Amino acid sequence: MRQVVSVIGAGNVGATTAQRLAEMDFVDVALVDVVEGLAEGKALDLAEAGPVVGYDSQVVGGTDYAITDGSAVVVVTSGLARKPGMSRDDLISANAQIVGPVVQEVVRRSPDAVLVMVTNPLDVMTELAVRVSGLDRHRVIGMAGVLDTARFRSFLAAELRVSVRSVEAYVLGGHGDSMVPLRGVTSVAGVPVGRLIQEKRLEEIVQRTRDGGAEVVKLLKTGSAYYAPAAAVAQMVEAILRDRRQVLPCALRLEGEYGLNGVVMGVPVKLGAGGALEVVEVELTAAERAELERSAQAVRDVTAVLP
Ligand code: NAI
Ligand code: 2OP
Repeated sequence: MRQVVSVIGAGNVGATTAQRLAEMDFVDVALVDVVEGLAEGKALDLAEAGPVVGYDSQVVGGTDYAITDGSAVVVVTSGLARKPGMSRDDLISANAQIVGPVVQEVVRRSPDAVLVMVTNPLDVMTELAVRVSGLDRHRVIGMAGVLDTARFRSFLAAELRVSVRSVEAYVLGGHGDSMVPLRGVTSVAGVPVGRLIQEKRLEEIVQRTRDGGAEVVKLLKTGSAYYAPAAAVAQMVEAILRDRRQVLPCALRLEGEYGLNGVVMGVPVKLGAGGALEVVEVELTAAERAELERSAQAVRDVTAVLP
């Protein structure tokens, strides 16, 4: 029998994540949404795509959390998405009221699951999930760094007309305006990016990365990004369930790593069976360290809103 990955929230990110996972053909998927018929309908549609695409993943959906029982991973996407002019932090109180009870329910039904948090503001919701779930911090992991890093890598690849596969980069810190695209460790086929792109242009690309979510929101007008976010979640789930020990930038509650304590931040994390196996401490320049500390303070400031 395949392991079950539950996805809570059958909206844009949740449904696209379910699709990606089904197409990877190694887990079964349970999709839950509060809206009657939405998750059930999308799950049925995804199940019916199996014979065409060629996957045997079972995809079920509904409003009843019983279908999530015994999940290996639960992905939490339920909540409101940004609209033009809204920051991620504007979503905090509305989404805390959704995410808190959802986390309690899924953990009660799947006590051994790893949680992958997606709902914004990501760092705050991940902190909330750590508190509400009572799980060890290594089993509550936020998705943002893979997405932010993918944006940075895609912009660099386009600039240099090189495959995205040849671009190595990390975007750390909070998932917001204070995120920290690292210049020091970013390289193209091993060549430091500073030797390939002039500083002023690199700063423009860094800023576009920070604004990456808002750029999509502005274009879509009625919602936020979901193809790249769903791809990022699926990569994390696969790394965990296949015990890949792949190092990916993920949001994790820090306890001393990078000199930071009691704050959820994006850092390089080795993902494998059971969740976050280790935080990898990459070398930072003095400027990057200062940016990371500023980002931690920004996350602390918004997290303070939680009761
Ligand atoms: P969406 O509006 O398309 O979907 C959200 C779904 O959650 C809706 O179908 C809604 O009915 C459902 N929902 C609301 N309350 C619920 C509850 N109590 N139980 C179960 N389902 C519930 O939004 P989208 O685009 O899927 O985004 C979802 C969240 O993910 C947003 O908060 C968004 O800001 C965030 N996000 C985070 C990213 C990241 O990098 N961490 C990237 C993209 C989105
Ligand atoms: C993004 O970065 C909205 O957080 C979401 O696209």
